[in-house]
Amino acid sequence: MQGVSWIILSAICFVLIGCGPQEPSQSQEDVPASEQTTSEEQNEKDEKQAEGQQTEETEPPDAVLQKFDTDDAVLQLKNALNALGYDLEATGEFDEELTWAITDFQLQSEDLLASGVYDEETREALLLYFEEDTSIEPGEGLALPPEEAEVTEAGTEVVSNPYDELALVNKSFALPGDYIPEDLIVPDVPFPFTEDLPQKYMRENAAHALEELFEGAEEAGLEMFAQSGYRSYDRQNDIFTANASQHGEDHANTYSARPGESEHQTGLAMDVTSAEVNLELVEEFGETEEGQWLAENAPEYGFIIRFPEGKEDITEYQYEPWHLRYVGEKTAKYITEQGITLEEYYEEQAE
Ligand code: DAL
Ligand code: ZN
Repeated sequence: MQGVSWIILSAICFVLIGCGPQEPSQSQEDVPASEQTTSEEQNEKDEKQAEGQQTEETEPPDAVLQKFDTDDAVLQLKNALNALGYDLEATGEFDEELTWAITDFQLQSEDLLASGVYDEETREALLLYFEEDTSIEPGEGLALPPEEAEVTEAGTEVVSNPYDELALVNKSFALPGDYIPEDLIVPDVPFPFTEDLPQKYMRENAAHALEELFEGAEEAGLEMFAQSGYRSYDRQNDIFTANASQHGEDHANTYSARPGESEHQTGLAMDVTSAEVNLELVEEFGETEEGQWLAENAPEYGFIIRFPEGKEDITEYQYEPWHLRYVGEKTAKYITEQGITLEEYYEEQAE
């Protein structure tokens, strides 16, 4: 009789309060009560995510982010892109893979400049994709980097993302021969010639930044001229071949880049000069008021002096106080404050 009562009691207990063996549920011990999700909410989230809709974790972050940034917002951005079809590693580091994905997304979205930088316009475009429930085809704008990097005839590694506003282009990393920036415009700044030559052009972001830099210089009472910006691969080939035949390849390559290896092909560089040095591109420009002003103030407008004095061993080019390279304000200020080159910046970030 006692045995029977025990069985009946156990059965009632099993049915009423679930004394039977249970699957361990996901621990929410470390999660504050206000943040805990009920299984219903979780199901709803899972469903939304599966349908490519936005959830708290996949909302495009309200921040400007770029290569080498480390932030929770970076992880959120990766989650947002993954919800649209990408397959990015879920870390908080803005790595090459994310730079590729952002560039790829920008190239597939009308009206966006392809820069690899996650900016306000890119965020709005992402939000629109979620709103309109459109999916994206990863790799359709910019192919994924090949497993083995391509090399030029000279043996230089070819960069897989030439659109990247922070692209490192030098004697070790070359642009593809057929790369022509799609957003070239003429900055509204003085040139010492009037013809509409390709060397007047720069990529849009860089061109507007240059206009602001020139305004700043004018306010400081200085007069500068933009001398040489965008240069195609073929034009660089002609220039280098001419320099090499005059001075020999090795010597020419201390001041003139081989085709593909010139930043001028990125559309992010501009050589600047002034009347004090007869509008020439010479070292003495660095000692002029204009040259000094540039060295101090260019970073505020997003530019660095790309080939600084004393860093010839690292850049592998002679000192060029006239050669400005656009990298965006945050990076330009950091590089200049640290007294480093773009090469050293990359090395530092890779550590
Ligand atoms: N003068 C720089 C190195 C160039 O040719 O791009
Ligand atoms: Zn230059």
